[in-house]
Amino acid sequence: MIGSGRGDPTDGAGPAPGRLAGRLVALGVTGSIAAYKAAELVRLLAAEGAEVVVLMTPSAARFVAPLTLEALSGHAVETDVLALLPDGRIGHIVVADTADAIVVAPATASWLGAMANGLAGDVVTATCLASAAPVVVAPAMDGEMYGHPATRANVARLRDPFGYAIVEPEEGPLASGQTGVGRLAALPTIVDAVVAAVGDRPIRAADPAARPARVAAPRAADLAGRHVVVTAGGTREPIDPVRFVGNRSSGRMGIAVAEAALARGARVTLIAAAITVDPPHDAEIVTVETTAQLRAALLSTLGGGDGRSGFDALVMAAAVADFAPAAPTESKLTRGEGVTLELVPTPDVVAEVVRIARGLDSAGESTRRSLVPRPVVVGFAAETGGFDRAADKLRRKGLDLLVANDVAEPGSGFGTETNRVTLFDKDGGTDALPLLPKREVADRILDRIVRALDERDAAEQTGSIEQESPR
Ligand code: CTP
Repeated sequence: MIGSGRGDPTDGAGPAPGRLAGRLVALGVTGSIAAYKAAELVRLLAAEGAEVVVLMTPSAARFVAPLTLEALSGHAVETDVLALLPDGRIGHIVVADTADAIVVAPATASWLGAMANGLAGDVVTATCLASAAPVVVAPAMDGEMYGHPATRANVARLRDPFGYAIVEPEEGPLASGQTGVGRLAALPTIVDAVVAAVGDRPIRAADPAARPARVAAPRAADLAGRHVVVTAGGTREPIDPVRFVGNRSSGRMGIAVAEAALARGARVTLIAAAITVDPPHDAEIVTVETTAQLRAALLSTLGGGDGRSGFDALVMAAAVADFAPAAPTESKLTRGEGVTLELVPTPDVVAEVVRIARGLDSAGESTRRSLVPRPVVVGFAAETGGFDRAADKLRRKGLDLLVANDVAEPGSGFGTETNRVTLFDKDGGTDALPLLPKREVADRILDRIVRALDERDAAEQTGSIEQESPR
């Protein structure tokens, strides 16, 4: 049995749970001027305890920004009937299978016609067709339109045999300037209709994992006062003045880290090799092409002349070329010559940064004091077919965290918006994250960095930092 009424203000047990507590309500918004009222409807449904997910037709998205409804509902807004969730599930089917009720408000004449005929060309119709949940429909349109026999027939069809609850529009001034029956019903009346439609049915999917995923709550400005250096993109090693040895990196993952760090208040230096997406405006951007240039940019940022580190954290997301042509030519090679390229390994830049930060020479011997404060260093490893080498790579390079992904896996390779990574930490811990948008992966990495920096600062304050020894 769900809660009855808005709660007894005398019970002293804090806010009442609401008549929709524990329920998932899908709000379908279609392209009427009344679409702006959807924002308030989300708030009222949430005030009744419902988790709300919004579905919009393309024309509704022209009346009210999906971002507004995303921020209010805490869920990504479904606007594309063909869209997949980051985890590969079909968005509107997940809503259809888990919603306790679907409420379409405002419902236009066009949408009523599509629904009455089962034309699933938009997410709202498709979700209603695919769902066993009760459906509440609140039409809103011009008075003449609402009175037209076509609209009347469509509404009648939705009511019976579809069994949808219709919340009749009210009489009043309309967007056209005329007065008539067509105004969207009062929002509390629509909420009451949703409560009535749900009745005392059991909750369909109480497990949050089965429901559409919530948008991650924005992180606090927990990197304020920190300097984070991010490398992104692929380095290019010249063969001759026009050709290079490169790789498929788009720079998306590194740029997502830079954007997330900026959003969390960090000062960000982005050392960008070849990238195919725009870098954030607020970052200090250093553009490089070759591994040697990337190394020089990084070492000059690291500083260290005064024994102090130039940054708090390094996120080494760049796909650094592992090999470079041994002898790039100054003039363009011609096809007739035939070419055999001799490649030599590039210096391991991140390992060198770690050595300098720890006061070690290339043989791993301690030659001077570590830089203070000691930077937290995160490396990336794009692997194919498993992470057997990850722990060894982390140790060999002296990283605090290694972010490993399998580039052969769908949705996890170069140029994708998503990534499935496993985090390996220096204490031997591993954390296999699900397939997530790159921005969320970035925030998970930054969560670790924030924690590591806090621990570092706490250790430095208590004087427990000792001269680092080689690993
Ligand atoms: N890296 C680096 N300098 C290089 C090569 C890689 O700083 N010359 C960094 C990358 O930016 C990444 C991490 O080291 O953060 C791991 O890169 P990866 O190519 O996986 O490591 P390699 O040392 O090249 O190991 P292997 O070729 O054995 O896979």
